[in-house]
Amino acid sequence: MKQNFAFDPDFLWGASSSAYQCEGAAAEDGKAPSVQDIKTVPEGTADFTVASDHYHRYKEDITLLAEMKARAYRFSISWARILPDGKENAAGIAHYHDVIDTCLSYGIAPIVTMYHFDLPAALEAQGGWSNPAVIDAYADFARVLFREYGDKVPYFLTINEQNVMILAGAIVGTGGSGQSARQLYQRNHNMMLAQAKAMVLCHQMAPSAKIGPAPNINVIYPASSRPEDYLASRDAAAMRNWLYLDLAVHGRYNVYAWNILRQQNALPEIAPGDMELLASAKPDFISLNYYATMTVQASAPVMPGTAAADQQSVFHVGGHFQTVKNPHPSKTPFGWEIDPLGFTAVLKEVYDRYHLPVMISENGIGLYDTLNADGTVHDTERIRYYEAHIAALAQAVKEGVEVFAYCPWSAMDLISTHEGFRKRYGFIYVNRTDDALLDLTRYKKDSFYWYRDMILNQGRF
Ligand code: BG6
Repeated sequence: MKQNFAFDPDFLWGASSSAYQCEGAAAEDGKAPSVQDIKTVPEGTADFTVASDHYHRYKEDITLLAEMKARAYRFSISWARILPDGKENAAGIAHYHDVIDTCLSYGIAPIVTMYHFDLPAALEAQGGWSNPAVIDAYADFARVLFREYGDKVPYFLTINEQNVMILAGAIVGTGGSGQSARQLYQRNHNMMLAQAKAMVLCHQMAPSAKIGPAPNINVIYPASSRPEDYLASRDAAAMRNWLYLDLAVHGRYNVYAWNILRQQNALPEIAPGDMELLASAKPDFISLNYYATMTVQASAPVMPGTAAADQQSVFHVGGHFQTVKNPHPSKTPFGWEIDPLGFTAVLKEVYDRYHLPVMISENGIGLYDTLNADGTVHDTERIRYYEAHIAALAQAVKEGVEVFAYCPWSAMDLISTHEGFRKRYGFIYVNRTDDALLDLTRYKKDSFYWYRDMILNQGRF
């Protein structure tokens, strides 16, 4: 495959990670447990105590990213390291100063996700996002981040994949199973308020930094050209995508999503001042995670309860839409659809709706990579995946979408949300398995060299 379009020389080619999935050191230097540390991990799947040992090896990892010519590193800050018990933890704060400074010493822009699926367990014990007190706890956390890092971090992402936490919280370990739709959308409303407070605070406290939301956005295809299926796809997009972004950008509920919530008896309670706060908070950009697309058809009025298998799959609202299999795209070994043209379509639709600059904070493929005796890892399927997706990205940019960063998932191998260490995403191989820690040595995969050369060529390959 060839891609001849030259991206802007300042384009931020990067790579991503999240604290709980790669750091380990789960109880070190004053860190308290997060919801990820206390969840039950199935037998034979790695837990988060050591993960990729990034907490101890971040210097080596960032040096490797520099060697890969990355211009950005998108990582998250562990809330439970910064405020383990509501009080500031100097060791946790110092750690992230050092991570950020290490990035800066290589000319790598640190892109900070403020919260990536790892609510402190102590807050969860008080009801988590169902308890409105967490809104202020998040604002307190945000204040520490902006005070400490606001003059050296150019981009903050408020909340990773809030829509996935609402629609598939049980799968990504953030809870919510057994909650009614009304309770879930109250959690959602509370998260929206927390995000709005963070955006306002960032602009007050860290004027040189920019801030935006980071949902997981899909294109939702109608299963057929039947008008009923087209309308179903619009409703599904309102519930999965636009509910979140309309609130983040315009400070108002998407009317179609609101209507569906009303029919489901799931309207959140809105306290005086909430809508004013939401309207006053303005993101500087939209960040999105893109992995797959979704296909829906019109659904019968009452749908039997169906458990979702993963965060990209089952999602339905009786009388509106239900997901169906799309026979066209190929699939990853883990069953996720590979749909690069869907990526072009997502970028165009998001830009069309909001006219804000776009960052890609995740995109990537989970594979069973194999380390060879000579230290090589031939992850050709990953290279093919990036070729197709970067070509799709170039297409969107050529057509006018303002994209300024691409941070694939993931920088180094780390623990998947629910499929362990065997599902590898990194440019950098980490020598451990689900069962054995081995020596955690880092190896450069073929995709590492491919990505480096692509960056040196301004996106051409
Ligand atoms: C996103 C998350 O859902 O996709 C990441 O932001 C996650 O935390 C990534 O790891 C890939 O999903 P999974 O389930 O394969 O780990």
